[in-house]
Amino acid sequence: MKAIVAVDMKWGIGKNNDLLFDIPEDMKFFREKTKGMTVCMGYNTLLSFPGSKPLKNRVNIVLAPEGVERDDCVITHTLQELSAELKKYNTDEVFVVGGAMFYKTMLPYCSEVYVTKVQADGEATVFYPNLDALDNFKCVYVSDEIESNGLKLNFTTYKNENPLPFEV
Ligand SMILES: NC(=O)c1ccc[n+]([C@@H]2O[C@H](COP(=O)([O-])OP(=O)(O)OC[C@H]3O[C@@H](n4cnc5c(N)ncnc54)[C@H](OP(=O)(O)O)[C@@H]3O)[C@@H](O)[C@H]2O)c1
Repeated sequence: MKAIVAVDMKWGIGKNNDLLFDIPEDMKFFREKTKGMTVCMGYNTLLSFPGSKPLKNRVNIVLAPEGVERDDCVITHTLQELSAELKKYNTDEVFVVGGAMFYKTMLPYCSEVYVTKVQADGEATVFYPNLDALDNFKCVYVSDEIESNGLKLNFTTYKNENPLPFEV
C-alpha cells in the first residue's frame, strides 16, 4: 500500500482537525492519484471531510473507535479487522490518507509515500513522521516547484526499502 500526504516545512499536517492549507493543485494531485482506488483513514480524518462524508469515487475504509457504525463507508474497529478487510483489495491500489495517528501506525507497511511539500509554516499541531530522518525511506523523486493559491510546493515520492506485510 501507499500513503499520500501534504506537509509543511516542519512535516506538519493539520490543526483543529483540519488541513493547514487550501491548495487546489494538491487537491487535484490527490484526486488523480486516488480516484478509483481504495482509501483508508482514521476516524478523525473522516470527520474532517466536508459534511463528514467519505470521498466519492473511491472505496473508503475507516478505522474508528468502538461504537461507531456507518452505512456510507466500511468501518473497522481494530487493526486486525482492518488488515482482514484490506486483503480484499489489490495492495497497489490501497492508499493511506490520514490522519496523524493513522499515518504513523501504517507507515511501516507502506511501500511508497507521496509527499507534497509546502514551503510554509502552517503552525501545525499534528505531524507526519520526518521521512528524511528514517534510514529505510529514500526520496526518489522531487518535482519542479509550482505555485498554487500563493504557496510554493513540490511533489515528492519516498520509497520504503523494507516495507512490512500488513499482518497484525
Ligand atoms: N495534510 C494531510 O495530507 C492530511 C491528510 C489527512 C488528515 N490530515 C489531518 O490530520 C488530522 C487528524 O489526525 P488524527 O491523528 O487526529 O486522527 P486520525 O488518525 O484521522 O484518526 C484517529 C482515530 O482513528 C483511530 N485510530 C487511528 N489509528 C489507530 C490505531 N493505530 N489503532 C486504533 N485506532 C486508531 C482512533 O481511534 P481511538 O479514538 O479509539 O484511538 C481515532 O479515533 C486533521 O487535522 C486532518 O486534517 C492531514
